[in-house]
Amino acid sequence: MSFVRVCALSDIPAIGALSVQIEGEPVAVIRVADGALYAISDVCSHADVALSEGEIDDCSVECWLHGSRFDLRTGEPSGPPAVRSVPVYPVVIEGDGDSADVLVDVAHPINNS
Ligand code: FES
Repeated sequence: MSFVRVCALSDIPAIGALSVQIEGEPVAVIRVADGALYAISDVCSHADVALSEGEIDDCSVECWLHGSRFDLRTGEPSGPPAVRSVPVYPVVIEGDGDSADVLVDVAHPINNS
């Protein structure tokens, strides 16, 4: 594992996404309603648009351009037009409270995309 600090926990909206670049990879770090964090590729597998600009609902994000919805745990699209999954990366939080650090490992996607 090669985790890299990407932001403070307080940089991420309570329910929302922060777009970051990690070792040249665009990554969306997303916090959902129950406080869980996920990190997925910030490029839709259908076309080159940012998933971080999509709508977050439960444990998924909807691509704003054509509406495919991606599961934040698996990267799988729920339906067309996207047919390929997007990489999902491991995330850890170091420290306590909103000043905690968020670290992501883009070298080891957890879904092998
Ligand atoms: S660009 Fe994302 S579904 Fe088409």
